[in-house]
Amino acid sequence: MTYRKKLIEVALPLEAINVASAREKSIRHGHPSTLHLWWARRPLAACRAVIFTSLVDDPDDPEAPAEFVAACRALPKGPNATASDTPRQRLFDFIERLVTWEATTDEEILEQARHLIRLCTDGNPPPLLDPFAGGGSIPLEAQRLGLEAHASDLNPVAVLINKAMIEIPSRFADLHPVNPRDRAGTAQGGSWKGVAGLVADVRYYGEWMLDRARERIGHLYPDCEGEPVIAWLWARTVKCPNPACDAQMPLVRSFDLSTKAGKRAWVEPSVDPRTRQVSFEVRLATRGKGPEGTVDRQGATCLVCHTPVPFEHVRAEGRAGRMGAQLMAIATEGQSGRSYYAPTPKHERAARVPIPDGAPNTDLPAQALGFRVQAYGMTKHRDLFTQRQLTALTTFSDLVADAREQAHADAVAAGLPDDGVPLRQGGSDALAYAEAVSVYLAMILDKQADLGNNLNRWEPVAQCPRQLFARQAIPMVWDFAEGNPLGGSSGSWQVLVDNVTRGMGASSFNFRRDKSGYATQGDATKLTVDGPTSISTDPPYYDNIGYADLSDFFYVWMRRSLHGIYPDIFATMLVPKTPELVATPFRFEGDTAAAEYHFEQGLRDAFGQMRQIIPPEYPLSVYYAFKQQEIVAEAGAASTGWETMLRGVIDAGFSIVGTWPMRTEMGSRMVGQGTNALASSIVLVCRPRPEEAPSASRAQFVRELTIELPRALKELQSGSIAPVDLAQAAIGPGMAVYSQYRQVLEANGERLSVRTALQLINQQLDEYLASVEGELDADSRFAVAWFEQFGLKDAVFGEADVLARAKNTAVDALAARGLLQAGAGRVRLLGWHELDEGWDPRTAEGPSVWMAVHQLVSRLNSHGEEGAALLLARMSADLAADARQLAYRLYSICERKGWAEQARDYNGLVAAWGGAQVQAAALRDRALRQGRLDF
Ligand SMILES: C[S@@+](CC[C@H](N)C(=O)[O-])C[C@H]1O[C@@H](n2cnc3c(N)ncnc32)[C@H](O)[C@@H]1O
Repeated sequence: MTYRKKLIEVALPLEAINVASAREKSIRHGHPSTLHLWWARRPLAACRAVIFTSLVDDPDDPEAPAEFVAACRALPKGPNATASDTPRQRLFDFIERLVTWEATTDEEILEQARHLIRLCTDGNPPPLLDPFAGGGSIPLEAQRLGLEAHASDLNPVAVLINKAMIEIPSRFADLHPVNPRDRAGTAQGGSWKGVAGLVADVRYYGEWMLDRARERIGHLYPDCEGEPVIAWLWARTVKCPNPACDAQMPLVRSFDLSTKAGKRAWVEPSVDPRTRQVSFEVRLATRGKGPEGTVDRQGATCLVCHTPVPFEHVRAEGRAGRMGAQLMAIATEGQSGRSYYAPTPKHERAARVPIPDGAPNTDLPAQALGFRVQAYGMTKHRDLFTQRQLTALTTFSDLVADAREQAHADAVAAGLPDDGVPLRQGGSDALAYAEAVSVYLAMILDKQADLGNNLNRWEPVAQCPRQLFARQAIPMVWDFAEGNPLGGSSGSWQVLVDNVTRGMGASSFNFRRDKSGYATQGDATKLTVDGPTSISTDPPYYDNIGYADLSDFFYVWMRRSLHGIYPDIFATMLVPKTPELVATPFRFEGDTAAAEYHFEQGLRDAFGQMRQIIPPEYPLSVYYAFKQQEIVAEAGAASTGWETMLRGVIDAGFSIVGTWPMRTEMGSRMVGQGTNALASSIVLVCRPRPEEAPSASRAQFVRELTIELPRALKELQSGSIAPVDLAQAAIGPGMAVYSQYRQVLEANGERLSVRTALQLINQQLDEYLASVEGELDADSRFAVAWFEQFGLKDAVFGEADVLARAKNTAVDALAARGLLQAGAGRVRLLGWHELDEGWDPRTAEGPSVWMAVHQLVSRLNSHGEEGAALLLARMSADLAADARQLAYRLYSICERKGWAEQARDYNGLVAAWGGAQVQAAALRDRALRQGRLDF
């Protein structure tokens, strides 16, 4: 099968992609993820880069379309092309701009990207399918890049998120709002580009719901001292097991209300010795803090008799239905910020309402990943809410239906045609539009659930309730904050309407959608697709996240509000569990092996399906997410999960042609000088392997590896790959050699395993990096060998002397040239901070590559990129190139030895290289123009 290589199969500007991905994590406002929570979303920057580079060719490839190469040549020159002006480097500079957060809203750059894609796809880009679409980052970016996007997921909540992200916006683009308030604005000539009209309607009907909710349940939320309440703070209680005490003991992790400097507030408990009842007061002070909580990791303590109480008792009480809650304090929004008040009977009473009719009555799973609450007797979804919270949520949920009816009537009144075709059948008239509005209203309701349940902690710094899903878990919470949904503060309906509509209105979401999007529910192991489609996907990873169990929390509310709109998607009472690809032993009666088999076999089936439908022209890209423990323990090495994933893809009939480590966490040193954080996922790039692919012997595989890998490594390094990423990125081209064959056979006829292949690739990488040593000057050869043995520790002179002679140099001379310190019979290499600051490569006697590397590290660490550039400008091109190569080698030595600090230095140097080189070139230019020889 012949095809043109796509850029992602050859080289990527990885550092820029990783930096943009990490930066994106800190963007809270205006990010499409504000629409609805989903766990472990992929950064848009990474998705955009992967899709784009899977569609455009490598412009340095002689086979690349001439028009595309010309278009790349015409792209503006940035740091990459300044260093070496080739079409690929110009394209790298473009990609570095395309992946930034700013580009999500830059139509000019996006249109340029779409144009480049068209040039490489005969003007007809393929549709893109993500069969594990989740929170929808990949389909959204596909649509942004001008592709028809298809999102599929087993999970109805994910399907709805994707509908809201890609399907509904393209169907109702450029419509005027239908609500009477904004229609008046339209009459005055308002502009309603993209989803602006839809956003206005979601806001209007969201507020319309709030007005009605106030009428229906406003009496349940009384003011306190004339001030609107932000939250009621509750402590769970159980009866003390000490028969002599018998008190209702409050379970409190922290009594702090405000830890703000100068404005402290806390709850002070006191015990009535006669009744043995606990009551609470509020203390305000400029300093100090609340008393110790009554629950810690070990167990609880009774506030009344001080008896330690084990969790077994608390659990037993909970399971027997005897866990209660006592009001501890009331937080209000006063004249000058937060005020706190002691509980009153009126406020206790207001919360005491019956469970409303129609509240979800579904069971929590008996056990699930990250769920802790069942052990305390919370066994139904409704148990995660107070009765007042259930009342509010059912009221808002009913109002979603009312708002839909109202929007329908308003849409008809506004003159929208009304053919009666619903949203699920592709409708786009009044009825479908009203249904679409209600989808977003149901998403606001989900936000309300996340911030309106009895597992919301009070946050004493920001002084507001904190959402439940800070992590992918449902942990037990002892003292909780019940926010006021009808108020105007964090967790209130109004604020959530504001947040969601701000996210929808942001230009990162409201971009020009040239092509339609489709979101459907489906099992990835049984794909049905019309016609060929490109695929990029991010499958679940073992037992990392229990998506189905977690999302039931939202599903029960979403189903209540939207069942009539999507009866098929919401057919089941809870999110479908059995086909979910997750290795959770709870679903297999505790059998870990059975759970893993289910996951691995399912993934193999899914890849098998993808192999059937993917066209030969485009590579498949698959994100492989590490578990956090694995990152620390095994990244880069052959972890079992990683190996299984590679084997699964290969067995499904793919060749692996690229492996790109992606980092989404911001390393502490990232901003200044490149990052050294490890990858949190790897993108696998795969091509369908021809059915007729031959077998090969181990010897043949090794022979090809020795030829192919060094070539590929040079390409990777030309893409400024950071040393920290090189080992993982090298797996791609190595595996490309291995997996082009149907199988590689050992001399005894057995199959050469993926693990062995990975080991052989690693060996080759090591040899490649070590080969730099042969080319080095004598001083550097000595220093590298010594460093590998002793690091920066001292050792006896005799050993140094023997080594120096072997390398054709002398210890005295090395000391004189400032590489090491020798005295009292001991020798030690100097660290970068001990080097002569006045060292100049132009005047130094035979400047060694070792010295060049460490002087650069020194300048970079103490004076930043500019300092390194000044020194680089004085180096010959050969010395600089050798120094960069040696930094990779030194990094690999440090990594192997576990010398993290030095590893960071070498990684930082290579990461900063591109920027420093551009500055160095500018310095040389300027000096030349001014006729000066100094910088
Ligand atoms: C890692 S997540 C995808 C995250 C997504 N890329 C994002 O940015 O949010 C994996 C998804 O696979 C889905 N999933 C699990 N088993 C599935 C199956 N058998 N078929 C389809 N989807 C499945 C889960 O519901 C989850 O949404």
